[in-house]
Amino acid sequence: MIQIFRTIPEFRNFRKNLPREMKVGFVPTMGALHEGHASLVSSSAKENDITISSVFVNPTQFGPKEDLSKYPRMLEKDAEILEKNGATVLFAPSTAEIYPESPSQIGFTIQSLGDKLCGASRPGHFNGVVQVVSLLFHIVRPDNAYFGEKDFQQLMIIRQLVAEQHFEVNIHGCPIVRESDGLAMSSRNLYLSAEERSQAVVLSQILFYLKEHYHQFKDADAVKSFVSEQISKKSVMRLDYFEILSEKGLKDIAVWENTEKPHAFIAAFCGNTRLIDNIPLFS
Ligand code: PAF
Repeated sequence: MIQIFRTIPEFRNFRKNLPREMKVGFVPTMGALHEGHASLVSSSAKENDITISSVFVNPTQFGPKEDLSKYPRMLEKDAEILEKNGATVLFAPSTAEIYPESPSQIGFTIQSLGDKLCGASRPGHFNGVVQVVSLLFHIVRPDNAYFGEKDFQQLMIIRQLVAEQHFEVNIHGCPIVRESDGLAMSSRNLYLSAEERSQAVVLSQILFYLKEHYHQFKDADAVKSFVSEQISKKSVMRLDYFEILSEKGLKDIAVWENTEKPHAFIAAFCGNTRLIDNIPLFS
């Protein structure tokens, strides 16, 4: 049976008794787990002596008009998925446990990585992510931590956090897991109505098309026009952003002669649900 800890002292007591030589893998999550999370847990279980996962819906990474109160919570089912995929410990603290004063943000400098894409659309979001991930790293003290590439910008920011704060943890990015029609798995897919779900697939269809054909467009602006045209022609989704950036450093790429590896990022509202996806354009 997976062991569940709900308080920091209980968890710490367990953690300090682990043998020093034991490799600890960590998969932080906000719950509502799907096969994407399962793949992170099984990678960790293969590469470590013990896998610890956390389920914590972090208030400081939600904006005032976002879905914090309705974010899906299903701890029992999550615990089953974690156990099935090789996690032996679940840390599931309350908000008061993590933020004893009140869940307010403390400032982090995330420099240029944090002010574009989701950082521009969701002000303060990455500050909240960095805040909670660093708290969790302090509590869990993992050797290896696993994050999905669906949140590619988050992964880059966490790598930067680790480098800047000298955390002794190796960060592993794991490939996006997709539904059979291509939609990137996300806990927020649970919000989609049947009609919205059938439209949501347009995002991955566009990305797959661009991976094969982006060279045929004169520049990134031409691709952007194509993408907004496709979204409005094929769906009732509202494009939030589409950008082509360098895989390293997330710098703007205007034309293909650039030596940087281009990576496409998309976010769109499908009804009230904001979906994101991304793809490397180079092979
Ligand atoms: O990717 C997520 O689920 C969250 O942003 C994370 C990393 C668990 C921090 O709350």
